[in-house]
Amino acid sequence: MNEIFRNIYARRSVRNYLHDEVPDEVILDLIKAGIRAPSAINEQPWRFVIVKNRDIIAEYSSRAKELSLEQFQGSDHPEVQGLIRMVSNPKFNIFYDAPVLVMIFSRPDALVPEIDCALAAENMMLSAWSLGIGSCWIGLAVPLGGDEYFLKEVGVPEGYKLVAPLIFGYPAKADHKPTPRDEDVVLRWVK
Ligand SMILES: Cc1cc2nc3c(=O)[nH]c(=O)nc-3n(C[C@H](O)[C@H](O)[C@H](O)COP(=O)(O)O)c2cc1C
Repeated sequence: MNEIFRNIYARRSVRNYLHDEVPDEVILDLIKAGIRAPSAINEQPWRFVIVKNRDIIAEYSSRAKELSLEQFQGSDHPEVQGLIRMVSNPKFNIFYDAPVLVMIFSRPDALVPEIDCALAAENMMLSAWSLGIGSCWIGLAVPLGGDEYFLKEVGVPEGYKLVAPLIFGYPAKADHKPTPRDEDVVLRWVK
């Protein structure tokens, strides 16, 4: 296995972080790796907002939890009941007290914004792992993208879409085991 495969196999989502700061230059390096991702018709629709203040990140968590609870109302999906319990816990920070939040927004009218930004996100998470930095995609934060007060506060121009909220930081535990995968995934070979 080469280094790239080893990094891909070892990466896992991290939900427990040290308080150590991630230097700005390192975050910019991750973004540079992110924007090396392919994008449909090379639109490169990604735009990044970086938040490095734990108190502000905690405020965003509270706001996102309120918005999520509103969205979950009336859902009878069994998984959603668990999410409601989790999000209703006042102590739960959806960003796990990570030192860095990077939100990938897409420019308005991009052809396939979710796909392009998700590819950039994965590049960033893998590059981070290669530098000993953990990450986690926080889907629970996506409702913030529909909150005009939040968008105004963050200074995101109208029409930009929040696709990938990502947290980064140095993992509190060194011996993270990768999350297992079901390997039985090939539907069919056609030869
Ligand atoms: C679109 C998306 C949304 C996610 N949202 C959350 C989330 O809100 N909170 C969380 O703790 N993990 C979240 N995750 C992380 C997944 O739970 C995680 O990737 C999955 O369990 C596989 O584990 P691994 O990343 O360690 O391989 C999200 C991942 C993706 C791709």
